[in-house]
Amino acid sequence: MQEIRVELTKNPKAKPQDENNLTFGTTFSDHMFVMDYKEGRGWYDPRIVPYAPVALDPAAVCLHYGQTTFEGMKAYRAADGAINLFRPDENYKRLNVSDDRLCIPELDVDFCIEATKKLVEIDRDWVPSAPNTSLYIRPFVFATNPDLATNAGTEYTFMIITGPTGPYYPEGLNPVKIYVESKYVRAVKGGTGMAKTGGNYAASMKSGQEAHDQGYSQVLWLDGVENKYIEEVGAMNIMFVIGDEVVTPELSGSILSGITRKSILELLKAEGRKVSERRISIEELEEAYDKGLLREAFGTGTAAVISPVGVLKYKDKVMTINDGRIGEISQHLYDSLTDIQWGRAQGPDGWIVKVC
Ligand code: PLP
Ligand code: COI
Repeated sequence: MQEIRVELTKNPKAKPQDENNLTFGTTFSDHMFVMDYKEGRGWYDPRIVPYAPVALDPAAVCLHYGQTTFEGMKAYRAADGAINLFRPDENYKRLNVSDDRLCIPELDVDFCIEATKKLVEIDRDWVPSAPNTSLYIRPFVFATNPDLATNAGTEYTFMIITGPTGPYYPEGLNPVKIYVESKYVRAVKGGTGMAKTGGNYAASMKSGQEAHDQGYSQVLWLDGVENKYIEEVGAMNIMFVIGDEVVTPELSGSILSGITRKSILELLKAEGRKVSERRISIEELEEAYDKGLLREAFGTGTAAVISPVGVLKYKDKVMTINDGRIGEISQHLYDSLTDIQWGRAQGPDGWIVKVC
């Protein structure tokens, strides 16, 4: 394994005073991990250095053609002060899936986990300990060589930045309002919907803004071909409790294979609950709602954790789920997952990787 060079900051930043008011994605720790790639040389010069802006050639491939990928994971402070990562191997395996789709060279999963552990350990004082806070970890890769000819890059940078965070939605565990998009589409099978790449999010912003203007937090996407089958929300996968079954859209090739989704499905199956991954049309959901069978809806994601959905709006129909309150299963899953992440309960083997 390559040795990681470390240069510590001489100007540590002030840490947030009030850990109970942390917002998502706006505060960053003192250090960052950086490693470069050149065709013919491979990945080289891994280093942890003070957090600082990046210098880029104005013709860098990533700026013009969006050849970028990213991941999202968290470090959790346990009651005894230990710091836990949750399934980091899954994140780096998925980064390689995204990288493969975007023609970005593969990274070594074990090396990435070691780099993450080392970075978090150096910035361990940035891992908050207030309830429901964590250190958000954002690994990302981008093509850096200057080339406007739409070729895949020949040079890349892989970086990891981190920052203390509170809930992704200002609502916290209170149910969010979600707008079902019927005009724009986000992804199609064969496209990049299954990859974590900036373009998917850029393509979603217009719809997200229009939903916001109407008072909705995020958009629920339908499939890009028939505009009929439920896919996922902007930053989370979606699950429904219909009757006595938890139902979630299958991995169709156009949605992200969420690690929280996978973990929740594993927890539900271990509890012997009825779960299914299958196609669900918006008409089926409306019908279940009309019959009183749509008992709960919730999103799953690293940033979003378990986010109950209180209202779903599709065209002119506003569906209020469980009277706009968090449901029993959503609350149970939130508790089970976060108990494992914060070290209050033992999870399945390999889910928790200790940093220190
Ligand atoms: N879907 C999208 C589009 C996302 O951005 C995310 C967040 O990472 C998820 C789903 C949930 O994935 P995970 O549970 O791995 O964080
Ligand atoms: C995450 O949950 O880690 C994500 O990447 C979501 C992000 C797009 C806000």
